[in-house]
Amino acid sequence: MKKTHTNADMSHQNSLSYKFGEFMDSLKKKGIKATLGKIKQKAYYKLKGVDFSTENIYDLTLTGEYKEHGTALVSTSKDFFKKVFSDLEDAVEKEIEKNIFLDYGSGKGGAIIQARDRGFKKTIGIEFAKELHQKAEINIKKLSLSNVYSYYQDATTYLPPLDVSVIYLFNPFDEIVMQEVAKNILSLKNEYKNEVYIIYGNPSCDVLDRYFTPLKKIAYDSGARVHFFKI
Ligand SMILES: C[S@@+](CC[C@H](N)C(=O)[O-])C[C@H]1O[C@@H](n2cnc3c(N)ncnc32)[C@H](O)[C@@H]1O
Repeated sequence: MKKTHTNADMSHQNSLSYKFGEFMDSLKKKGIKATLGKIKQKAYYKLKGVDFSTENIYDLTLTGEYKEHGTALVSTSKDFFKKVFSDLEDAVEKEIEKNIFLDYGSGKGGAIIQARDRGFKKTIGIEFAKELHQKAEINIKKLSLSNVYSYYQDATTYLPPLDVSVIYLFNPFDEIVMQEVAKNILSLKNEYKNEVYIIYGNPSCDVLDRYFTPLKKIAYDSGARVHFFKI
């Protein structure tokens, strides 16, 4: 398993050469129609003033006691969310209840916005970098979304609401923080109102394997990986 590079420099993802590489890769693997769809989506966000760009966190205003344990902001894309969510439903062989979607380490709101678009009644993001949380609030406002909430808070201090149905973790932090978050999630095991699933994108530790029931592990052609769990 790859280790989490906490406070890593991810700024290369905003360079023109990286974006050109992404474009060529998408063209090769997904074809012209899907690639044009992606460009259209990006143009729509640009027009609306919505910003999901990659951002390093080491100069940001971080709250809580785990400032050295987080990863840089890399936003979940619409395509990735769609694929992962439909793979989760395939793995459990049924439709997932779309009550509350909770994202620990929610950055600029990429995943909570995509989840609301896919029909979750309410989505909540917990983000410990003030500037990213503020950007998430701006993005939510610019897209005129209701029932999408970003909270400026350290993940270890937030207990899931009892009507949560999906908990999302897109490689947000290392195993130290994951351990605390897993304990909090597990502490409410007998109180959740519906079945609760966990999506762990680009996993970098095996803490969740020790706390929850593993359902499926997928490695995509793009290099992205995802692990699914049931609480
Ligand atoms: C890889 S990004 C994922 C962003 C978002 N989940 C998405 O999919 O668009 C990881 C995020 O976790 C945040 N993070 C890291 N440690 C955290 C902590 N202890 N509490 C809350 N957020 C944290 C980082 O600031 C960063 O925005």
